[in-house]
Amino acid sequence: MDYKLTEEQQMIRQAARDFANIELLPGVIERDEVQKFPKELIQKMGELGFLGMMVDPKYGGSGLDTLSYVLTMEELSKIDASASVIVSVNNSLVCWGLETYGTEEQKEKYLTRLATGEILGAFCLSEPEAGSDATSQKTTALDKGDHYILNGTKNWITNGSAADVYMVIAQTDIDKGHRGINALLVEKGADGFEIGPKENKLGIRGSDTHSLIFNDVKVPKENRLGKDGFGFKFAMKTLAGGRIGIAAQALGIAAGAYELAKKYSLERKAFGTEIANHQAIAFKLADMHTQIEAARQLVYKSAWDKDNGNNYALSGAMAKLYASQVAMETTVEAVQIFGGNGFVKEYHVERLMRDAKITQIYEGTSEIQKIVISRSILDN
Ligand code: CAA
Repeated sequence: MDYKLTEEQQMIRQAARDFANIELLPGVIERDEVQKFPKELIQKMGELGFLGMMVDPKYGGSGLDTLSYVLTMEELSKIDASASVIVSVNNSLVCWGLETYGTEEQKEKYLTRLATGEILGAFCLSEPEAGSDATSQKTTALDKGDHYILNGTKNWITNGSAADVYMVIAQTDIDKGHRGINALLVEKGADGFEIGPKENKLGIRGSDTHSLIFNDVKVPKENRLGKDGFGFKFAMKTLAGGRIGIAAQALGIAAGAYELAKKYSLERKAFGTEIANHQAIAFKLADMHTQIEAARQLVYKSAWDKDNGNNYALSGAMAKLYASQVAMETTVEAVQIFGGNGFVKEYHVERLMRDAKITQIYEGTSEIQKIVISRSILDN
């Protein structure tokens, strides 16, 4: 593995860093406070090519590698994990799933607009009773010849009301188990498609999370992704790459909290000296720095695996498992270093701590990553 970033990758990382500091930082506390979706900022990120980073330029994408995407996710997440989850879902779940498994007609109809940020996408797998246990889909897509009839409820959907096109996983033939599941593209505004209430969340409060309700929604057969019964594998394959994006988000949250804590430690004085001069603080910073660097190696390695045709389901799960643990531990320590100020919103670290928690939950909990990892290593 080559650890040296190319000139292009360094430029992309700098562009993402600049965007995060200049555009995302100013309103981030208020957006978190009032749960405001960053609509104009997402539009600007679309113009910068951040919403279709790995998509072929012939479909309006930036045509970049996974490592460039990971570097961007890391920088955006240092400042605003709400904005970065919107970027992550659009890139690694919706655009990747559509580009890899969509028909030419589906790509022409949706991919270019998704990759340029003209529209947003959502990935709809979770249900009230099918979170971790994703094969237990209760949403049905009954086969009616030239179309499906979709019924059911999806939960905790990122971009829930902001999206224009939804990838919906649903059961067509219960007797076939996971081989009877399909993935369908559903447009906002379809008859019988209702957007449920917005969730009031602990973290990533600027992102838009809703339940979705489908009541006899008619979906044409040409909106199916892949062949009949491919829906569960479609979801698993798509999530394998998605987990790399969330791992990069966790890495960014950890690095953001660490950078703030380090700066504060060099400025804040107690007992006659900057607190960084006390080993109680210096050792915390040493641990944080070491853990973040270890997480970074796993995250970049999983991106490198994806770019080089290796098994990234395993390395992506390891990266997500470890980076999300580091994000949680690092942000808690950052709050501790800030003391009373860490408990106050204007210092940012309390928000990063709340945002860190979701990286251990979505796109598969830490326990799910351990299932993926243990099955993979025990199969060999
Ligand atoms: N690639 C291809 N195929 C895969 C695969 C992968 N990575 N993982 C599993 N499969 C296939 C298996 O080979 C199997 O196929 P066959 O029977 O034909 O061999 C089939 O899928 C079923 O697999 P399992 O028997 O392993 O299924 P399981 O019921 O034991 O579940 C699981 C496996 C890993 C636990 C899975 O259910 C899972 O990942 N759960 C978590 C779901 C999740 O991540 N949800 C996130 C929601 S999306 C989100 O959070 C987005 C957001 O808002 C940010």
